Amino acid sequence: MKNANCLVNKNYRIADIDERVYGSFIEHMGRAVYTGIYEPDHQEADEQGFRKDVIQAINELNVPIVRYPGGNFLSGYDWKDGIGPKEERPVRLDYAWFSIEDNSFGIDEFADWSKKAKTEGMIAVNLGTGTPAEAGQLIEYCNIEKGTHWSDLRRKNGHEEPHNFKVWCLGNEMDGPWQTCQLTAEDYGKKAKETAKILKWVDPDIELVACGSSSKEMPTFPEWDLTVLDHTYEYVDFISLHRYYEYNGDVQNFLAAHYDLNEFIQTIRAAADYVKAKHRGTKDIYLSLDEWNVWYNSQMDTKRWQHAPAIAEDVYTLLDALVVGGLLCTIVNNADRVRMACLAQLVNALAPIHTAPNGEVLKHTTYYPFQQVSNYGRGDVYKNLVVCDDVETERFGKIPELQSLTTFDADKGELAFFVLNTNQTEDIKLDLDLKEFGQLKMIDHEVLVGDDMFAVNSFENPQNVVPEKVNLVETIGTEFAIELPKLSWHMVRFSVQ
Ligand code: AHR
Repeated sequence: MKNANCLVNKNYRIADIDERVYGSFIEHMGRAVYTGIYEPDHQEADEQGFRKDVIQAINELNVPIVRYPGGNFLSGYDWKDGIGPKEERPVRLDYAWFSIEDNSFGIDEFADWSKKAKTEGMIAVNLGTGTPAEAGQLIEYCNIEKGTHWSDLRRKNGHEEPHNFKVWCLGNEMDGPWQTCQLTAEDYGKKAKETAKILKWVDPDIELVACGSSSKEMPTFPEWDLTVLDHTYEYVDFISLHRYYEYNGDVQNFLAAHYDLNEFIQTIRAAADYVKAKHRGTKDIYLSLDEWNVWYNSQMDTKRWQHAPAIAEDVYTLLDALVVGGLLCTIVNNADRVRMACLAQLVNALAPIHTAPNGEVLKHTTYYPFQQVSNYGRGDVYKNLVVCDDVETERFGKIPELQSLTTFDADKGELAFFVLNTNQTEDIKLDLDLKEFGQLKMIDHEVLVGDDMFAVNSFENPQNVVPEKVNLVETIGTEFAIELPKLSWHMVRFSVQ
């Protein structure tokens, strides 16, 4: 076994962690809503039709914010179709996923569901077919208490109290030709700015997210981000980033996803800083990585115009879970600028939680690293000074073989260390120096590892890929040796003595 070491110095505090980096996403896509979070006939459904077993699985993930209602769906969606008596709601064609939308779940149901799921809403307004005026009507419906047309309509629809959503996204992926009513950066920048003005006039306490590039591969990247921010700098708080990865036969490249994501983040951070300087501004624009995940584009060509077809129900492998762990490290290591992030998505469509209609809930492999980091990666994030060997990647050349993250929750007196060993052939003994934090007791060590990188969980074998507890040997001290088998993901937790 070879050696590596990691020093965590208390003076190298990167930032406090905004808990919203552990957000997720529910879109009207496939079975995310219908037969996902909402299935009135299911035996686990509550009186509003929300599946309690799904809420339980979400609660265990500890997700503080959920983006809604899309995604590509958003750009052809009229939010007014989803309010009022259900029997009067129109059935529409959804151009994004070529599905039938019956509108039995809308903004009021989402508000009720998010309370039960112990999460906040991040609401996106349609800037494809939608107008700034309609976005203004939506926020009036949601956030104004009473005495106006739209707020009184909400009360008439059974919600006396405002929903008070505090984060709003200005459209979705408006740079993409797949979007209903794609816009140029110029046109989107102007539309986003005018919409932002209305939204903040109606509720000055909200935060706004402008659409950044939908991926690094877009021909308009990164010019899009500069142009959009040039129009909106004074009015928005965040620029969005979206990033998906898939395994295409090269394990080492796939495991370098965290490295790629870091590059993307640094580029958008630089673009935001450039615009800040150009505007002689004082505020930083934060980054909202409001779609990220591993995504295989499975079942994308389902028969047209069905209600809630199975779309993108990816079955994740152990390897995918390792990649998700590495990506989480990158997100939290950038917590000084990435203040929101959404695992896309949450249920059924490219998601860690899978449901059988009328049946049970299954946790895919990717559920577990997210659960660990979301629950324990809280407080402040510290820089890890790691000395380790490199691995050779086709895409990036040599990069460090370890990816890691240290968080310290001063209120709880707990430190959490997460690490991914991407070496495909060698185990590593990692000497972890935590003296700066005083005497620590190792209270937990969980590892995700296995002989078969392509192992998955299924209804027949739901515990096939889950973190295993490691026996804790030398538990109290300031320096710890951790064994990292080849291709393994770890969470090690310590309490201050
Ligand atoms: O999350 C799935 C889709 O990916 C979203 O609808 C879209 O915004 C992105 O292209």
